[in-house]
Parts: sequence; C-alpha cells; structure tokens
Amino acid sequence: MMVKVKHWRSMCKGLVLGTFLTSCMILLYCLSMPQVHISLPMPVPYSCAHRPSHLNPRLTSNTSELSTSQTCSPKVDIMFMKTHKTASSTFLNILFRFGEKHRLKFAFPNGRNDFFYPSFFERSQVKDYSPGMCFNIICNHMRFNAPEVSKVLPMDTSYITILRDPAELFESAFHYFGRLAPFTWKILGDDKMSEFLFNTAHYFDPNGFNSFYLKNLLFFDFGFDNMLEVTDPQVAEGIKFISDRFHLVMLVEYFEESLILLKDALCWEIDDLVFFKLNARKGSTVSKLTPELRAKALEWNAIDWKLYQHFNKTFWTKVDSYGRQRMALDVAELRRRNEEMTKICIEDGQAVEAGRIHETAMQPWQPIGEKSIMGYNLKHNVDKANRKLCRKMLTPEIQYLTELGVNLWITKLWGHVRDII
Ligand SMILES: *[C@@H]1O[C@H](CO)[C@@H](O)[C@H](O)[C@H]1NC(C)=O
Ligand SMILES: *[C@@H]1O[C@H](CO)[C@@H](O)[C@H](O)[C@H]1NC(C)=O
Repeated sequence: MMVKVKHWRSMCKGLVLGTFLTSCMILLYCLSMPQVHISLPMPVPYSCAHRPSHLNPRLTSNTSELSTSQTCSPKVDIMFMKTHKTASSTFLNILFRFGEKHRLKFAFPNGRNDFFYPSFFERSQVKDYSPGMCFNIICNHMRFNAPEVSKVLPMDTSYITILRDPAELFESAFHYFGRLAPFTWKILGDDKMSEFLFNTAHYFDPNGFNSFYLKNLLFFDFGFDNMLEVTDPQVAEGIKFISDRFHLVMLVEYFEESLILLKDALCWEIDDLVFFKLNARKGSTVSKLTPELRAKALEWNAIDWKLYQHFNKTFWTKVDSYGRQRMALDVAELRRRNEEMTKICIEDGQAVEAGRIHETAMQPWQPIGEKSIMGYNLKHNVDKANRKLCRKMLTPEIQYLTELGVNLWITKLWGHVRDII
C-alpha cells in the first residue's frame, strides 16, 4: 500500500516538473522567435524612404527665378505605369538614378523585366514581397491592376504615366512586336503594315496569340478591354478612371515639357531630369506614316486615339497653369543641360548602330531578328566628377536592372534563344 502511494507521489512530482519545464521551454521559444506576424491592413501607411534632409526651393512665380520663401521636399513614392513603345526606357533611366540618389526601394519583378505581362499585376509577383513590406517605386511593364498596385505602395504615392500619339505608337508596335503575333506571318509584301491596316478584317484575329499588341495597346496596358467599340460607355469610364487615378500623364511628343511638369508635381530638381534618349530606333526621328496611313492607324486604334486626345487636352491645361513662358524657359534650360552632358559623356556626341557599340554593357536589347535599336559609346576621357553619372545615364535598361539587383534569367534565356533563331 505504502509503496503504491509513494509511486503515485513520485509520478505526480515528475508530471508537475515535466509540465513546468515544458512551459519554460515554450516560453523561451516564444521569446526567442520574432514577433508573430499580424498581417497589417494594406497599403503600407508610411514611406520607408530615407527622407532627404534638405528642402528644395519651390518655384512660385511664372518666371524661372527662384523664390526661396517656399520650400517642399521631393516626393519619393512613385508608381510609374510603363506603357509600351512610349520612350519609357528613357524615363526609367531617370527614375533609376533618382531612386539610387535617395536610396529608395524598388518593387521589381523576379526573374524577368516585367510583371508577367500580359497577365494582370499581382503583388505576389514582386521580388522579395511579404505582407506589410514597404516600397517606394514600381516602374516595370505590367498590365495595370489598381487594387493590387495600391497594396505595395504608400497611400500618398504619386501615379505617373506616359502616352504617345497612337498612330506612331502603332507603327512602332507593329515593327517591334508584329512578329510575335502569328496572324501577321501570312501578310505578304514589303509594306506589311499598310497591307494590314487596309485589310484588318482579313488579317486580324482578336483571339489570336498576342493580338493585343496590335490594337489599342495603351488601353490594354491600363487593364481594360482593347477590343471594345470606341462608343462603348466602358471606354469613357476607363478614361475617367485613369484620369482620377493618375496625377500626371506625360506625352512622348512633349517629353521635356512633361518632365518639367513632373519636377513641379514631385518637387524634384532640374538635375534629376537630365537624360539621353535610350532605345531609339534607327531612322525613327521622322514619321514613316503617310497622312492616309496615319488616318487608318488612328481609326484602327480608335480607343487609344480618344484616350490620347483627352490627355493631350488636360496636359495643355496643366502647361497653361504652369505658365507658357516659364515652361519655355525651363525646357530650354533642360535642353541646355542635356547638350552639356552629351558633350561630356558621349563619343562623337550621338547614338550609333548596335555594331559600332564597343562595350557589351552598353548594348541595348534588340527586337526579334533585328539590330535596329541604337546605342551609345561612353567617352574614354570623362573627368572623374562626371564618370559615374555618364555611365548611369548611358546604361540600357536591362543592364541597369541587373545592376540594381534584379535577376533576369528568364529574359536572358529568351535573349539567347532568339540569338540562336
Ligand atoms: C506672370 O504672371 C502675371 C500674373 O501673375 C502675369 O501678369 C504675367 O503676364 C505673367 N508673365 C509671364 C511671363 O507669363
Ligand atoms: C495636342 O494639343 C495641342 C495643343 O492644343 C495641339 O496643338 C496638338 O495638335 C494636339 N495633338 C494631337 C495629336 O491632337
């Protein structure tokens, strides 16, 4: 009997001790682990930027004289909706440099240089994304998806985009992406584009692979249905949506003016705006479109034409409130600085064909089966003060992305496959 009681007692003691030790272990484990993650309501409610300590003088008058009475601090949270064939590589270079200058965090894609375009953007496509994570800038190609985008950026992010005359854009897209849409393969003749434009009913297949590249590409990029009739109420709604969401819609045709408006909207400095035209096509300075073809292209891309006309109007309203003369002076100043940088950085002061670019680091990405995109040679004897800036300004998008830590294995693999073909 006594033995049994003793046995029970020791068992109870053991149990209590065991429970106590286990509790201690669990407590220790909890304390040593990082805090249990509670997923925060998105978007991130603050900016994670190193806020620059200085304030930029704010221009208040309509002359270019500085009025130092008012200051503002540069906006660093930016959503740039990168549309296709709209000089956006040139703009990306500006953004990359600005981001490096302020040590900002980019939301980049993973493995490639776009967010799985033409799929809609999803925040899970962002490299190193985890809930609650804070980014400053998102700027790679995507099919716009406002709710998802807003979840990776602070609430007061500035939304910026750029449009281009849809006839010129179509010409460029046809040249650059035409071969990616199989229904174009049956188009015969030297001038495939005009053959296509005059017989769209015959050649175009709305359900064909990659067909979106060849009709209302801008409207498609913003996430809307590019096959709608232009009179469909959804078109006007789409334009209104873009108008409400984006703080600034730039225009390729007025690129410098656009940058000045950007500087004004985001409180940047004029030094942030210097650029070289990247990714330019050989002989692209003059339009290849006859008036007749232009009319056809606009009719074919009627939604984009409506979109462009709307934002061309609002653009000039903005220029008017900025002051026409003040704008002219600022544009002249920007051009002067660009020319100055051209003299400092670029060998022979101009773009050259791909075959004449010495460094592979300066080779731009080429469309399939061609070498029509021009690039630059960096001067050999650039002084030390400008060497870094020159190199950055001339670095093509793909190389710059790599430098910023993006792994582009899918893009590069595709590049090798194309080279073999
Ligand atoms: C500047 O603005 C004033 C009114 O604020 C106007 O009278 C003047 O004509 C403007 N100057 C220029 C150069 O636009
Ligand atoms: C854009 O607006 C400007 C100023 O109103 C006008 O001169 C220009 O022709 C317009 N461009 C197009 C393509 O409609």
